[in-house]
Amino acid sequence: MEHVPVFVANWKMALSHKAAMETLKAIKKLAKDMPDSVEAVVCPSFPSLAEAASFVGKISGLQVGAQNVHWEESGAWTGEVAVSQIAPFASHCIIGHSERRRLTGETDQQVAEKAALLIRHGLVPIVCVGESWEERQAGETVKRVSEQVEVLLTKLTRVALAKLIVTYEPIWAISANNPVAPPDPDEVAQNMLLIRKLAAGQFGNEAAERLRIIYGGSVDADNVKQYVGEPGVDGALVGSASLKPVQFVSMIKTIGEVGST
Ligand code: PGA
Repeated sequence: MEHVPVFVANWKMALSHKAAMETLKAIKKLAKDMPDSVEAVVCPSFPSLAEAASFVGKISGLQVGAQNVHWEESGAWTGEVAVSQIAPFASHCIIGHSERRRLTGETDQQVAEKAALLIRHGLVPIVCVGESWEERQAGETVKRVSEQVEVLLTKLTRVALAKLIVTYEPIWAISANNPVAPPDPDEVAQNMLLIRKLAAGQFGNEAAERLRIIYGGSVDADNVKQYVGEPGVDGALVGSASLKPVQFVSMIKTIGEVGST
């Protein structure tokens, strides 16, 4: 099934507000021939969401996403951000990133609740799943990814699958974790097939075919083609390389050319 290919830039907390806006301005200068066939989403930190949202209106095809949201609609949660607070500015939201799962103890259940909440509010959840190096070494990749995806699916409906993006992001492959080498694209594609099979097991083949599954972890302008060229890989989530305007635009172009299968 033809999918709209996806590019997600996860800016983490790498940029000050000023630097984030300057980076967007530099992207705009390069964006003339950026294809609008790609669903391209830039995810700056919360304080930059509003201004980024009004600025990206000037860059054809680019949308804004948040990097996290709380799983409850509202409540006494000091320091947290509610879906109604990001919705005016963001069309997408990353959830379940390994840095949040690992460092702030976010559970599979909470990630699943966040996905359902975002869908109810008309935002696209970009749900990250993936195994640690230790889990991989212990031969537990399939087990760990299956656990994360199965819990996620319990909170979704067949219709919701078409609105969701799942990112397969092996934790050890993230550039901040200093991988020895980025993963083999074939291995990545196998694990992404597993995710689609799990979705098919729950909701049937037709619904699972609508799900978009992208790869994250040390993607850059040089290797993006290898990953998105694999069958069943619908795009990429990119951290550090997406901070560089030339690479940002080049990766969107490549994803637009390769498309998805
Ligand atoms: P990276 O980050 O592209 O720098 O590996 C990806 C991520 O952590 O989301």
